[in-house]
Amino acid sequence: MPKALLLENIHPDAAKSLRDHGFVVETMKGALGEDELIEALDGVDVVGIRSKTSVTSRVLDARPNLSAVGCFCIGTNQVDLDYAGKRGIAVFNAPYSNTRSVVELVICDIICLMRRIPAHTHHMKHGVWDKSASGSHEVRGKTLGIIGYGNIGSQLSVLAEALGMRVVFYDIEEKLALGNAHRCETLNELLEQSDAVTLHVDGRKSNTGFFGEDQFAHMKQDAIFINLSRGFVADLGALKQHLDSGHISGAAVDVFPIEPKKTGDPFETALANEDNMILTPHIGGSTLEAQESIGHFVSQRLEDYWFKGSTSLSVNLPQINLGDCKGACRIMHLHANLPGVLAHVNRVLGEEDINISFQSLGTEGELGYVVTDVAKRPSTATLEALRNIEGTIRMRVIS
Ligand code: NAI
Repeated sequence: MPKALLLENIHPDAAKSLRDHGFVVETMKGALGEDELIEALDGVDVVGIRSKTSVTSRVLDARPNLSAVGCFCIGTNQVDLDYAGKRGIAVFNAPYSNTRSVVELVICDIICLMRRIPAHTHHMKHGVWDKSASGSHEVRGKTLGIIGYGNIGSQLSVLAEALGMRVVFYDIEEKLALGNAHRCETLNELLEQSDAVTLHVDGRKSNTGFFGEDQFAHMKQDAIFINLSRGFVADLGALKQHLDSGHISGAAVDVFPIEPKKTGDPFETALANEDNMILTPHIGGSTLEAQESIGHFVSQRLEDYWFKGSTSLSVNLPQINLGDCKGACRIMHLHANLPGVLAHVNRVLGEEDINISFQSLGTEGELGYVVTDVAKRPSTATLEALRNIEGTIRMRVIS
């Protein structure tokens, strides 16, 4: 029976799903350091981690029998992805499982800021009853400017329109406008018309400091600003100046250039005393629903990889989406992306007169992955010949 080790308090549904599919599952609450991880991975086929366990090249070298790493989170920086690929170890994550949670918090932030809820709450806590409607607005009919129209930005677009907002967006890539959303040709076109500006760009290096003084200066008088993307993309000093001057009427920030490592660590920000300000500790995607969804999503990827060889949505191997085996057995052959490997595989099978019922090849960068369903199980000698094809990284056979 295959063995799975799940670390870092991964949602229990993941362990249940893996057990239901025939894995022996061991779970551990915390993260492990390098040496502890190497020890714990003895005899383990697939490991599940979150963001605090690093799967380094040393770990991968020490445990060559490991087949797959499931990152039960969005990011995969904690895994040496290239090296895992070179060793034939598949890595999976859950890129969309918390999208909805982020979108709901953005909607919450927009409504709260437009109604000046942080300021009202502050006054109430300090014994001041201020029932004034001054500066408070409905979101209906207001223009929402979404910067970065990816998974989160585009879903936000749909929900914001359902609230009666007019949506404009700006993305550096060509994107299909959903519903009635309008694509802006330039960032300034978006900034000059938006009552709320929200950042949903990805974490590529070139986005460092992407939203600074110039961009804030182009925002409409009394607009609100929201960042739930990455801490390093927005200049918080410039944001503070525009809040203090009264140009921007409120802001919500969930991500910061430097964030504490763990719950309970101290945190300071120059934005703490702003009037209409929502500060949250990088919780955009932190809901129980998202954790559960991540648990389901990644465990399914691991099961599909182990039992079918499917690399669909793997972050480091060529992607092939596979159904059930269409023959007596399935041969999964991962190799260096060299010319002629597929022909070589077929020649070796042909020499034993083995008929191919199904075959699929995927290549990506330096890696190639060919999956072959065959009508009868090849002899040990044929399997050995397949393993010996030049460039072979790893081969698995399932019935
Ligand atoms: P995604 O990769 O699907 O979308 C990002 C979009 O931004 C892409 O369409 C890309 O073309 C666009 N883009 C990149 N740079 C740009 C620029 N300079 N100007 C305009 N468009 C640009 O990413 P997804 O899943 O929508 O996530 C968006 C952000 O949200 C990421 O930075 C992610 O790390 C963050 N995030 C934050 C969470 C939180 O807890 N606050 C939770 C989940 C994601």
